[in-house]
Parts: sequence; C-alpha cells; structure tokens
Amino acid sequence: MSSRKKNLAVFCSGGGSNFKALHQHIQERNLPCQIVMCLSNNSQSGAMQFARENGIDAVHLSSKVVPEEAAFAQAMLSELEKRQVDLILLAGYMKRVPKAVVERYPKRILNIHPALLPKFGGEGMYGINVHRAVLEAKEKESGATVHFVDEHYDEGEIIIQGKVSIAPDETPESLASKVLEVEHRIYTEALVKVLEKMN
Ligand code: GRF
Repeated sequence: MSSRKKNLAVFCSGGGSNFKALHQHIQERNLPCQIVMCLSNNSQSGAMQFARENGIDAVHLSSKVVPEEAAFAQAMLSELEKRQVDLILLAGYMKRVPKAVVERYPKRILNIHPALLPKFGGEGMYGINVHRAVLEAKEKESGATVHFVDEHYDEGEIIIQGKVSIAPDETPESLASKVLEVEHRIYTEALVKVLEKMN
C-alpha cells in the first residue's frame, strides 16, 4: 500500500536558491513529497516571493512579530501541525529553531551548511564568512553538508556531503558559487535518502 506523499516545510531567510532547486527536483523526479509551506523571518525574501508565485503557503514568523519565546515556538508548531508537516528543511534559515520544535521533530529537521562539517561550523560560520575561513585555513577542498538538526545545531548526524576543489586563485565569492551548486544537488539527494528511510 503506497503511503501518502510526505509534506515538507522549508525555512528560509534569503533568496531561497536551495528552496527553488528542491522544488524543481521534486517535480522533475516526481519524488513522493510536496513542499506545503515556506516559513521565513523575512516576508519580503526571495524565497517567500517564490512561494507566493508557486502556490506554496508563505508563512511569515519573526521574533519581531512574536517576541515571547514560548509563543513563538507555539506559533511555529501550530503552522507545522495544521499542514501535517513530516519533514522540515532549513534552507538558508538564519534563525534558531526553538528547542520545542527540534524536540517535536527528532531526525525530521534537515539543514544545509556550506562547508565540510564538522569543520567550519558553529557560531558565526554562515554565508561568505565560511568560505573566507576555509581559504584562510589554506584548505585544499571544501564543499557542503546536509545534516539532521539537533539541539547542538551544526553537530547533528551528517546525511550527505559534496566536495569541491579549491583553485590557487580561489576567492571567497568564487568558492561560494561553486559550493552553492553542490548544495543544490546534494540537498535533493539527502531528501531522497531520508524519504526512503521513512517508508
Ligand atoms: C546557502 O549557502 C546555505 O548553505 C546557507 O545559506 C545559504 C542559503 O542560500 N545555509 P539560499 O537562500 O538557499 O540561496
């Protein structure tokens, strides 16, 4: 008996290129899932614009709107539960996921990080800072990691990694775009792996 399509929520803060890639790959590969909501702390983000243009619920939730922590967590949980979300994919989400949400979705929250964790993760390691740190450390390779989110953040169990070589004249910007291409590929591969384990 085929089980129902899994419902995905993507959490984004910015342009949402990972969200867009996931959306495209789910359609192209007819994956047994559907993105039912995009949650963002930035209602004007490219990700939210894309959601609105593609008939996906765009849910704006920010601590400016709901400053009290417990109410914020409850608001997030109710948005997820009313859409029977099975999996949460953080895709350029720059805010902490409340502990109550992490606990409610054990091994059901994925994140993509633009480096080869466990190196170059943790506090302050986001965006171009990551690629700058990798080059300053004279690394020979970099890449991206998809991992489960647990209460320790960038330390959750790794699902998949993709590598890129570093050219002698690499800049943080050129490395960022190389890694972003890998992100777009491996996030879908990670999703397929997790979906297979859920059935
Ligand atoms: C990506 O580099 C991702 O690794 C990091 O934030 C960025 C998101 O980019 N978490 P986008 O919004 O998916 O384009």
